[in-house]
Amino acid sequence: MVPEEAARIRLAWPDVGREELDVIAEVIESGMLTMGVRVPEFEAELARVCETRHAVAVSSGTAALHLAVLALGLEPGDEVIVPAYTFPATANVVALSGLKPVLVDVDPATMNLDPAQVEVGPRTRAILAVHLFGRPARLEELPDLPLIEDAAGALGARRGGRVCGSLGLAACLSFHPRKIVTTGEGGAVTTDDDRVADAVRELRHHGWRGDDMPSPGLNYRLADLLCAIGTTQLRRLDTLLAARTRIAAAYAERLRDLPVVLPEADEGDVHGWQAYVVQVDRRDDVLAALRAEGIEAQIGTYALPLLGAYSDQGFFSGAEYAYEHALALPFHTRLTESELDRVAEALGRQL
Ligand SMILES: Cc1ncc(COP(=O)(O)O)c(C=O)c1O
Repeated sequence: MVPEEAARIRLAWPDVGREELDVIAEVIESGMLTMGVRVPEFEAELARVCETRHAVAVSSGTAALHLAVLALGLEPGDEVIVPAYTFPATANVVALSGLKPVLVDVDPATMNLDPAQVEVGPRTRAILAVHLFGRPARLEELPDLPLIEDAAGALGARRGGRVCGSLGLAACLSFHPRKIVTTGEGGAVTTDDDRVADAVRELRHHGWRGDDMPSPGLNYRLADLLCAIGTTQLRRLDTLLAARTRIAAAYAERLRDLPVVLPEADEGDVHGWQAYVVQVDRRDDVLAALRAEGIEAQIGTYALPLLGAYSDQGFFSGAEYAYEHALALPFHTRLTESELDRVAEALGRQL
């Protein structure tokens, strides 16, 4: 087929349909679009899936990170360790909380925080570790400090037998449409810690504690409409993960003889498959060539030291390597065999 005539292959396509339409109709007919019964219902389902005592729904993954960091109750200028290669929100929320994000390099092979490079200083108070693209990070090798998991893309993933989202003091999830479970925009904090859960609940709702407001908060609530969509999706999580795992295996089968590094999880882990991110040489050329063929590929994510906000933190070879090589391929449950063939063939022509 002439490339110009080929149908676009979308980067992402949320797995939503009839069931979600039906629950949206129910919520609209109930006349209760926010702060109704759908929020606790969604939170209970999420806590069950993440095997935590609490789940608090908020308006985005970024909001979840922001509130989890605020709930630590740190002093201005305290330091939080953040990987140098991640979606910028991970570090932004630390900076915007009056704290200092201290970047630590990633292992270019896993693209996750490299525990061997973490140095604990006199003001280091916490670690914000990311399970990037759904690959569980090696959290047990980190120093013993309060740990927040950025599990934005790790719903359904497991480190050893344990569920990502339950491995630290708190974890932050995202329900953006590129995630396995989506509510359009949305997020949540999961935790076993009553104090953290209470703090996040208050902070997402202006700081209200009953009739009083002991300290200021925000409006980071997630509407009932969106929670209803989320509950429907969460009940299908196993099926959604199985479908994404199948697509990942189908890519691996097609790409295994090409000079490309394929994504994987450590032995014994379950990958959450938020995205299918390979590493290739000449990434920018390959990305441009795929896009010219109607294939919506994308970079992996960002090397924070290459952004103005974090350019004062020095040079991070692992993050720069990951930034220059990572390539996200179209990844969703509607991809057909022939679309997977097209992506693999287009990639093969460039390598
Ligand atoms: C690792 C990571 N953290 C945080 C976020 C922010 O989530 P949201 O887009 O829901 O605010 C994302 C979103 O892509 C992410 O990938």
